[in-house]
Amino acid sequence: MSGFPGKVTAPRRAAGRPQAGRSPRMAPFPLAEVYQLLEPGPVVLLTTAQAGRQNVMTLSWHMAVEFEPPLLACIVSSSNHSHAALCETGECAIAIPDQILARQTVGIGNCSGRERDKFADFGLTAVPGACVMAPLVAECFANLECRVHDTRLAGHYDLFILEVVRAWTDPLQTAPRTLHHHGFGRFVVDGETITLPSEMP
Ligand SMILES: Cc1cc2nc3c(=O)[nH]c(=O)nc-3n(C[C@H](O)[C@H](O)[C@H](O)COP(=O)(O)O)c2cc1C
Repeated sequence: MSGFPGKVTAPRRAAGRPQAGRSPRMAPFPLAEVYQLLEPGPVVLLTTAQAGRQNVMTLSWHMAVEFEPPLLACIVSSSNHSHAALCETGECAIAIPDQILARQTVGIGNCSGRERDKFADFGLTAVPGACVMAPLVAECFANLECRVHDTRLAGHYDLFILEVVRAWTDPLQTAPRTLHHHGFGRFVVDGETITLPSEMP
C-alpha cells in the first residue's frame, strides 16, 4: 500500500498560511509552458514503415522506464501520421541526431508524411534495420530498433511503451552533441561532459 493519504481535502485558506508567490523571486509561470522547464530530450527522430512507405517524425517527449530489456515511454500524438503506422505495424526505430542535423530535425517535425516523402525532402538516408521494418537513419549517431511493448496508455495519453530490441551507434561520431527542446523553436545543445565520483567526501 502506498503512503499516499487516502482522503485529500481541499486546502482551506488558513489564517497563518503564507500567500503564494509573495517572494519577489517567485513569479507565476504559465501551466501550458511547464513542459519547457522539464523537457528531457534529446530530440530524436522516430521512423516507421507502413505498407512499404517509410516515414519519419521528430519527437522530444520520451523517457527511459527500464534498463534491460530497455523500455522507453514515448508520446506519439494521434494527430500524427506516425501514430497510425506505429499502431498498425507495432514497430519503429528511434534515431538520435547530432546538432548538425538541427534544421532537418525541426523541418521534419513541422510537416507530415501524409503529404510528402520526408526522407527524400530532408536528405536523410534510410538504412534497413536487422529486426524491424522501420528504417534506421544513416546520418544519426545512434539508432534503436523498437517494438511496441505496451499500449495501455495509448488511448488516454498517446503514450507507447517501446522495447529496444537492437541498438546501433556510429563509431565515427565520437562526440555527438544532442539537441534539447525548450519550446517555440528554442533548443539547448549538449555542452561539457563532467564525471563525478558516486560518493562525495
Ligand atoms: C522539436 C520537436 C519536438 C516534437 N516532439 C513531439 C513529440 O514528442 N510527440 C509528438 O507526437 N509530436 C512531436 N512533435 C511534432 C511531430 O514531429 C509533428 O507533428 C510531425 O509533423 C509528425 O509527422 P507525421 O505526421 O509524418 O507523423 C515535435 C516536433 C518538433 C519540431
